[in-house]
Amino acid sequence: MNRRTLTSIVAVAMVAVVALTTAGCNSAECKKASENRKIERLLSKMTLEEKIGMLHANRMFSSTGVARLGIPDVWYADGPHGVRYESVDNGWTSLNWENDACTNMPALSALAATWNRELALQCGEVIGAESKARGKHVQLAPGVNITRSVLNGRTWEYFSEDPYITAELAVPYIQGVQSKGVAACVKHFALNSQAIDQYWISSQTDERSLREIYLPAFDAAINRAGAMALMPAYNKIDGLWCSENKYMIDTLLRGEWGFDGVVVSDWNGIHNTVSTATTGTDVEMGTAIKENGLYAFHNYYFSNPLLEKVKDGTVSEEYVDAKVRNILRMLLRLDAIGGKPYDTLGMGAKLATPQHTAVARKIAEESIVLLKNDNNVLPLNPQQYKKVAVIGVNANTKFSLGGGSPKVKAKYEVTVLEGLRNRLGDDVEINFAPGYKLLNRQFVPAKHHFTNEFDRDFPELAAEAVEVAKEAELVIFVGGLSHEHGMDCEGYDRPNMKLPYRQDELIAKVKKANPNTVVVLMAGSPVEMGEWYDTTDAVLQCSFLGTEGGNALARVLYGDVNPSGKLANTWSVRLEDMPDIKFGEYPGNGKEVHFNEGLLVGYRYFDTYDVKPMFEFGYGLSYTTFAYSDLEIAPVWNGSEEEFEVAFTITNTGDREGSEAAQIYVHQNESSVMRPEKELKGFEKVTLAAGESKRVQTTLSRRALQWWNAEKDCWIDEAGKFTLLVGASSRDIRLTGEFELVK
Ligand code: BGC
Repeated sequence: MNRRTLTSIVAVAMVAVVALTTAGCNSAECKKASENRKIERLLSKMTLEEKIGMLHANRMFSSTGVARLGIPDVWYADGPHGVRYESVDNGWTSLNWENDACTNMPALSALAATWNRELALQCGEVIGAESKARGKHVQLAPGVNITRSVLNGRTWEYFSEDPYITAELAVPYIQGVQSKGVAACVKHFALNSQAIDQYWISSQTDERSLREIYLPAFDAAINRAGAMALMPAYNKIDGLWCSENKYMIDTLLRGEWGFDGVVVSDWNGIHNTVSTATTGTDVEMGTAIKENGLYAFHNYYFSNPLLEKVKDGTVSEEYVDAKVRNILRMLLRLDAIGGKPYDTLGMGAKLATPQHTAVARKIAEESIVLLKNDNNVLPLNPQQYKKVAVIGVNANTKFSLGGGSPKVKAKYEVTVLEGLRNRLGDDVEINFAPGYKLLNRQFVPAKHHFTNEFDRDFPELAAEAVEVAKEAELVIFVGGLSHEHGMDCEGYDRPNMKLPYRQDELIAKVKKANPNTVVVLMAGSPVEMGEWYDTTDAVLQCSFLGTEGGNALARVLYGDVNPSGKLANTWSVRLEDMPDIKFGEYPGNGKEVHFNEGLLVGYRYFDTYDVKPMFEFGYGLSYTTFAYSDLEIAPVWNGSEEEFEVAFTITNTGDREGSEAAQIYVHQNESSVMRPEKELKGFEKVTLAAGESKRVQTTLSRRALQWWNAEKDCWIDEAGKFTLLVGASSRDIRLTGEFELVK
């Protein structure tokens, strides 16, 4: 061996050693160890006062850092539909900046109606990018509470009544947000399903319903998406506020799920110093304690009162350290320690960019649900009607700044009226009449349930609308709900499921004046259909659609886009049909609300009890038609357990391109316990040209067959036969097949 060869061998060996060392340092354990060392180093340099400073708000939307150690203040922003505007330090009022206007993404209820995981990812990416541009560390989103009561004023800002679709869309949304270097804060943990009495009421459910219905989306957010933050709900569970509920926070979240991120209280969601400090809640935000009319951050439960309790030995400093560690860990993962503060100069240019608003429009378009289209009235032909009447307040209203904490100052928001004008140009005369008006009353939350405010009508406005309708060749009615207190708005529940301000009567009058009427209902939660429904050919439904909403609706109405949205909540015929109302525990007795319906939430109830809904879960039509065929189910060994591969074909049998959200439900043929008639365990959305077919393939995990055995305290599955149901909705089942779990 000559000298040269030897040198090369040594060189190769050295490269290998370096590579090995680097690979070693990149391993998850090594990274974690290094993260822990950094955390301990910082912690060891901090005074008790500095640590406690990190545990509570110092402004309405920030908590304190330790500047001398390079630890920044932590900045939080609402919410699920965009990055809320900058507000004053000591309150909620907007600072009226000129450069903080963002994209208003469609509401999560709209995102759910797309049944599109890729769009959920893109939605998260847009919000994450804009949040980062605004210098935020934590985006207070998404809300993954299950729609138990459709009257809950927050239904529009949540995904669905079903845990599977909620989890499937929340995961990519969170991954999207966090891919931009911002922590997603999944909320509200847990069992928060009404506004009435929510600040003190105790939600009572059995362990099995908790596991099968209310927790899966949180579990997925933490364990699959790696959400870095979580917000406990306002309500109590088993008599203990969620922020100090040791079972929920310590046993489940921190213990069973191993959550090492930050638990941020809801604003004004902490009520005690000692009991909360000794639970795994880390940061206290928004507490209403005031001095001289101003929020007194130094008097927060986790501020001076906690300092005193640590000093007098009531609370061990270990609890404080554990909380600080969680915050430091999140900041390290966001790469936010030690560097220069994020430069928000010029942020305006990074907000509501054409790329971002294009995503908003795509989501809006895909979320619109075609409820009815008799005689193929839709899509409309712009050449056919040259004089169009647009009736209804929602056609001419901007919604982005309403609804409570999800409010967004949108850089722009296209109303339906503007969208129609953009689409139709000067060629078509459009005349608008509101037909009613929003009263925008401020209600007292505890009492609003009994208000008759929304029964008001406006005879003069209705008469004007009738005249405008008479003069037109076509009427597009755009009504529904709004973000008024008592409608789709945080802090209030709706008094009933009816359209407010006698819209049912108004639609009937307008239709009498002009039978050529198309109805668009903009509502983030289900509403009852009036008598007009039976004699109306075309009805579209959507939630609040954000920045590009008006353009999206116009494009669906006029057929540039084929509707492919499907309902992610059951629409019952009447409110009384809903399981929470039927079983008598909504809104509870002021102290407790028992979720007596157990697992039978939404379609699980309607299908098990064979009650006919108005529109079933998963329902939505298209301008084309789809055929399903050739279902195959085959067991497959994944290395540790048996799963089932599912495949079927979808064919576009109509004459135009369209997208179809195919749904996969599972029914257990015989079980030792009650199981809902069917449960959603898969869905795939495919886009097909006219005449095109695609094979859809997916795998049913073992969890899809399991139920929570409260006695054994674990998930179990039972050997035996199951039926797989593949459908265009939960009731429009096109293919069924049996398979057997052999153990
Ligand atoms: C809401 C939260 C929100 C917080 C901050 C609370 O009222 O429940 O969802 O993030 O306010 O605005």
